[in-house]
Amino acid sequence: MGGWSAEREVSLMSGAGVADALESLGHRVTRIDMGRDVAARLTEAAPDLVFNALHGTPGEDGSVQGMLDLMGLRYTHSGLAASVIAIDKVLTKQALVPHGIPMPGGRIVPTEELYERDPLPRPYVLKPVNEGSSVGVAIVTDEGNHGNPIARDSVGPWNEFDELLAEPFIRGRELTTAVLGDQALGVTELKPTGGFYDYAAKYTDGLTEHVYPADIPDAIAQACEGIALEAHRLLGCKGASRADFRWDDSQGAEGLFLLEVNTQPGMTPLSLVPEQARHRGIAYPQLVQRIVDEAMN
Ligand code: DAL
Ligand code: MG
Repeated sequence: MGGWSAEREVSLMSGAGVADALESLGHRVTRIDMGRDVAARLTEAAPDLVFNALHGTPGEDGSVQGMLDLMGLRYTHSGLAASVIAIDKVLTKQALVPHGIPMPGGRIVPTEELYERDPLPRPYVLKPVNEGSSVGVAIVTDEGNHGNPIARDSVGPWNEFDELLAEPFIRGRELTTAVLGDQALGVTELKPTGGFYDYAAKYTDGLTEHVYPADIPDAIAQACEGIALEAHRLLGCKGASRADFRWDDSQGAEGLFLLEVNTQPGMTPLSLVPEQARHRGIAYPQLVQRIVDEAMN
């Protein structure tokens, strides 16, 4: 848990929840807040299994997975290859779109270029290629962001990253589906009380309404579950993953787009995988045990 990504605090919450659950199930747990000495600490702990509660780099991007492979340690969630692809929103498109998974187009833009011209017609979304929890995401609209072009001193991801992924903004609704093993756990709609489903809306109680099951047509719910399962399978994910969608409800089934697959989905009290599992009768400790069981087999 922990580590040094922008999602360190989220990971500490996930890790605390998971560790408590493992102890309540009778497992012996060593909590490791990951630093550069993580390999030495793992060697010392000599665990039967590493429960990976990291988010972002390097815990979700294949680095930690490769280290654990080399050390010969079993671990939860996805392996090296799936992690490398899924953390990168461009590689994910390249892996899934040829298989018919609908995802928004997009292009990588050097940040310098954003000060000169818009990369796409407005509204569009700018996001780092490989961050989570909406860190660094901005929606550029006609009204906002200080006119055209973007001003150098404006607040947004353009000041922190050398390049960004620009995607057309999909109007409409925010949907998500968890996958546990070979099972999709339904569809939740996220309704932030203001703005979009950003970092604050994700982790501040009361800032986002979670509607489960989402009040959407059966065909859309089935499409979300089908796409989430297919993406999990195509990427070679293991354990739990979570597929995030936008749905433009004025476009029917054509308006549904997968945004990304999260291979280390949050396990905090407000996180969606535990919430969907609970709706399906799988309490948090049982969810943790299911993820452990899949990793042990
Ligand atoms: N990146 C966060 C932890 C999530 O997907 O839940
Ligand atoms: Mg994500």
